[in-house]
Order: sequence, then structure tokens, then C-alpha cells
Amino acid sequence: FENLAVRPSGKLLLTSVVSSVLHTLDPASPNATLEEVYTFSNSTGLTGIVEYQPDVYAVVASTLNLTTRRADPGSVAVWRIDLTCTPAAATRLAVVPQSALLNGLSAVPGAPHLVLAADSYLGAVYAIDMRTGAARVALQDAAMAPGAPAPALGINGLRVRGGALYFTNSERGTFARVPLAVHDRLVRQAGGVEVLGTVQPAAGQFDDFAMDCEGRTWIATPPGALTLVFPQANATWGQEVAVGDTDGSDSVFTEPTSAAFGRVENKEDKILYVTTSG
Ligand SMILES: *[C@@H]1O[C@H](CO)[C@@H](O)[C@H](O)[C@H]1NC(C)=O
Ligand SMILES: *[C@@H]1O[C@H](CO)[C@@H](O)[C@H](O)[C@H]1NC(C)=O
Ligand SMILES: *[C@@H]1O[C@H](CO)[C@@H](O)[C@H](O)[C@H]1NC(C)=O
Ligand SMILES: *[C@@H]1O[C@H](CO)[C@@H](O)[C@H](O)[C@H]1NC(C)=O
Repeated sequence: FENLAVRPSGKLLLTSVVSSVLHTLDPASPNATLEEVYTFSNSTGLTGIVEYQPDVYAVVASTLNLTTRRADPGSVAVWRIDLTCTPAAATRLAVVPQSALLNGLSAVPGAPHLVLAADSYLGAVYAIDMRTGAARVALQDAAMAPGAPAPALGINGLRVRGGALYFTNSERGTFARVPLAVHDRLVRQAGGVEVLGTVQPAAGQFDDFAMDCEGRTWIATPPGALTLVFPQANATWGQEVAVGDTDGSDSVFTEPTSAAFGRVENKEDKILYVTTSG
């Protein structure tokens, strides 16, 4: 599993880089099983997923080469999948031919038709207009680029919160934020990048993450940890391993890839769901 989204009902939507099928799982069901929601054509794997309007999601589907960790040229597509109707209605909306890997996705508060997509090799964030499918590079910064050649990944997970874009850079081992200006169809960088957390290569890599209602961030840190980065009273940021361990010896928490808070009656719940690829 690569990524997940939590529906208003509390059910999970799960993506995998080795399957073109979007799966669902009901964590409230005693013996939950995976069920198929939709199969994306012209793809072998799914990466980012985000709910950008109530029960309407953006999903990245591509033909992925898992050795090179690159998508086949021209295969990277962002789909819209609407789960408010039965059966689900899916549209292949934007093709991003110049991208070799779109990774995490984020909604944009205040711009309900925009979705941001992290390009892990370009070190950039695309803004995708979910009405027209128009995709353009909205932010590009050295702090988003990998410091080593492919298959090292730069920007991976991303989330817009309180006028800032928060993101991880896997190869650089950083969790950072940058001020963001949002005007309807336009998103741009409005200040410098500030690093809030770091992980040394020996302790793993930062992948996707969830942010809670108290401003804390829970970062999937393969091979075996969940890192908590939190604001402190003196305006500095603290960091600790919250779950698992950095050497990957935990037998269950293997290769965590993403995290998302559960929902009960459409409100954030105090259960964090984590996908793993192990
Ligand atoms: C769930 O699975 C367990 C183990 O197979 C079984 O004992 C239990 O009865 C099942 N529960 C339900 C509600 O089906
Ligand atoms: C899949 O690819 C084929 C061949 O390139 C193309 O004709 C078709 O329109 C694509 N399907 C979708 C849903 O875009
Ligand atoms: C992935 O890329 C490598 C290196 O270019 C190539 O040898 C291999 O055949 C590719 N795998 C697939 C499944 O296309
Ligand atoms: C800020 O507070 C934390 C937690 O109390 C402490 O560990 C750290 O040293 C403080 N940093 C500064 C610069 O005061």
C-alpha cells in the first residue's frame, strides 16, 4: 500500500503502486476485507489520493516501473473519482506528460477546485484545476528536489494548512513548510522554506504524513517508524519516534508509507490509520 484517504463514512480508500485497483476497507467491520472500488485503465499502480470535495477524490494513476521508480513517459494521469453516486463515476482528467512521478496530493482550503501534486523528481508542486484538467507547475524549490539522482525521491507528501504548504523531502530527510498565496485558480510560493523536522539517512526516510487538530504532524518513516513533529511553547519544533523504531525491527510496522486520521460522523477521530508496503 502506498497511500490512503478516509471517507466521510469512516471507510478507508487504499492505493497501491502494484495495482491499478482502488480498494476500500471498513475499519468498523469486525473482519474487514478489501473490496474493489474502481480499476483505473492505462495504469499499473496508484500513488496519491485526496478528498478535495465531499466524497470526491483525486487519484494519481500511472504505468510504474518499480525498479527505476519512474512512470512510463506520458502515463501519469490525475483522475477524479466521485463516490457520491453508485456506481462510482471516474474521469481521467489531467495527463501530466512531462512528469516521471507524481506522488502525494493535497486539497487547497479556499480553492475547492484545485489539487496540488508533488513531483518527486522535478522537485516541484503542480496545481491541477479539477474542472478543466489544466496542470501547471505552481512551486519549484531546491528544498523540494532530491539531493541525489533518481531513483532518490525529493518531495513526497504534502498538505496545505493555515496558509502554508507542509511537505516531506525523502532524500533530504526533511519536513518543511513554505508560505502559500492562494487566489482561486492560482497558488504560489509566498516566502522562504522553513525546515521543521529532519531524519538522518540511517534512521529512515520521511514519506507521507497526517496532521492533527493540534498542529502536530505524524510522518510515516520507513523502514519502521512513525515520527511525530510538534510545535513547542517556545516556538521551536520538537520531534520524537511515536510508533515503531528507526531500524525497522518491528514485525508489524514495516515500511510505513502514509497516515490518515479516522472519521466518525464526519469528524476527525483519534485513530490514526497507517499504510505499509511491508
Ligand atoms: C471474525 O473472524 C474470526 C476468526 O476467523 C471469527 O472467530 C469471528 O467469529 C469473526 N467475526 C465475525 C463477526 O464474523
Ligand atoms: C488508454 O490508452 C489508449 C491508447 O493510448 C487510449 O486510446 C485510451 O483513450 C486511454 N484510456 C483512457 C481512459 O484515457
Ligand atoms: C524497468 O526499467 C528497467 C531499466 O530501464 C528495464 O530494464 C525494465 O525492463 C523495466 N521494467 C518494466 C516492467 O518495464
Ligand atoms: C524549547 O523548548 C524545548 C522543550 O521544553 C526545549 O527542549 C528546547 O531546548 C527549547 N529551545 C529553546 C531554543 O529555547
